Amino acid sequence: MKMSKEISESELKVSKIKEGTVIDHVKAGTALIVLEMLGITGLEGTVATLSLNVPSKRQEKKDIVKIEDRFLERTEINQIALISPNATINEIKDFKVVNKFDVELPEEVSGFPKCINPKCITNAREPSMQTYYVKSIEPLKIRCKYCNTDMERNDVIKQLTKYQGLTQ
Ligand code: CTP
Ligand code: ZN
Repeated sequence: MKMSKEISESELKVSKIKEGTVIDHVKAGTALIVLEMLGITGLEGTVATLSLNVPSKRQEKKDIVKIEDRFLERTEINQIALISPNATINEIKDFKVVNKFDVELPEEVSGFPKCINPKCITNAREPSMQTYYVKSIEPLKIRCKYCNTDMERNDVIKQLTKYQGLTQ
């Protein structure tokens, strides 16, 4: 059977969703970390499909995360941008893409992650009020507003418990 050229190889592997969010152009290999950031373990019953390290036009390889019946909050989207700054969010309703936008790192990020300086005031207070200035997106560099400690992407990834110790 002849296949349409419009359909890329990666698209053939996973079916379309009826309602929910497709996070596309996710930095290759980071889809599991993105799921972890969103608090999805699978045990809560979320229906999701992942593609890891599939071929892509825009990047050499990418991941794709499809989450059914969930739409993301702005703060969640900002968090994804810390890990995967080129990801695209597609909101799907009745099988159609009704909204498409790029994730975006604001000049300041708040609430996540924890400052890696144990003496930082943000580690002494509850509720925590971490705030960072984004100094660079690729490679990621964020600077704590309170103690000036710089953190990179791996410092963020390490805080997602399953991936402690991972370096890349
Ligand atoms: N998608 C999906 N279910 C739908 C509609 C779209 O899972 N009902 C997925 C597609 O498989 C694709 C992403 O959502 O991974 C974006 O869809 P679309 O905008 O149709 O694809 P492209 O034009 O290739 O997107 P882009 O230009 O952003 O690469
Ligand atoms: Zn600090």
